Amino acid sequence: MWDRNSLVSVTQLSRSDIEEILSVASSFVREPRELCKGKILANIFFEPSTRTEKSFQSAMYRLGGQVLTHKDAGSSREKGETKEDTIRILAGYADIAVIRDDEEGQIMRYAALAGVPAINAGDGSNEHPTQSLLDAFTIMQEHGRLENLRIAFLGDLKYGRTVHSLMKVLSLFPGNEMYSITPSSLTLPAEMRFIEAGHYDVENMEKALNEIKPDVVYCTRVQKERLKGEKGSYIMHREILEALPTTCRVLHPLPRSNEINADMDSDPRVIPFKQARNGVPVRMAVISMMLKAKKELE
Ligand code: CP
Repeated sequence: MWDRNSLVSVTQLSRSDIEEILSVASSFVREPRELCKGKILANIFFEPSTRTEKSFQSAMYRLGGQVLTHKDAGSSREKGETKEDTIRILAGYADIAVIRDDEEGQIMRYAALAGVPAINAGDGSNEHPTQSLLDAFTIMQEHGRLENLRIAFLGDLKYGRTVHSLMKVLSLFPGNEMYSITPSSLTLPAEMRFIEAGHYDVENMEKALNEIKPDVVYCTRVQKERLKGEKGSYIMHREILEALPTTCRVLHPLPRSNEINADMDSDPRVIPFKQARNGVPVRMAVISMMLKAKKELE
């Protein structure tokens, strides 16, 4: 069971923890409540972000709380201050910390250093737990279930941290079949391959999607900032989209490069912007549940 003191990996969550987070998030969509008045959230970002940083900020504002934000530019990091000291200082000014790191492997230690409840906002190519929760929330909204789904993960599954977290989340629900469609150099890390029901090379994307008949296509961006000599590209052309089942939904954590052209955004199956908006209620749920567990809230 989730201790609610940190959320650094989705492996801390059971199926019932996830169901509870999504249920609390739904309640915030119906009825926002200012549960965090007087509380401060520290957004500590060592890597660029638009959605994660701003949706945590929006979530805390909607909960009645306040936010302070760290970015390296303009901070004493430019004078050589360590990430460790920066986290200890910022978290010391706050009741809960959100930390994004450009490297994998350190987030557990950083969360412990914070001394307040801490949330992983993405660590290198490892995990992005709250993104996977908002992805699951979106799938639940669209399909009414998180089980017995056929999901095609498309693109960079080697470095795509959102995929790593979402696959682990969906593996907790029975009957899900998860397929990967990737360039040969960007397949899932070996330790995660047991989750796949099948793998296709991206050269055969059209054939793969025709065979899989997915309920969800989860597209990702090539993580150019993490590539170590690998190359990869993939584009969901209109003809491929047209061939998908009418009930299929195409998700993308964004930002996108050219994987889904903007001229496809009007197709009701293509929902990355709706998905991104779900970041607010889901993060409201995570923040309030963690602060409540620390008896910080009434
Ligand atoms: N989906 C996501 O993590 O986007 P940002 O990098 O903009 O936060």
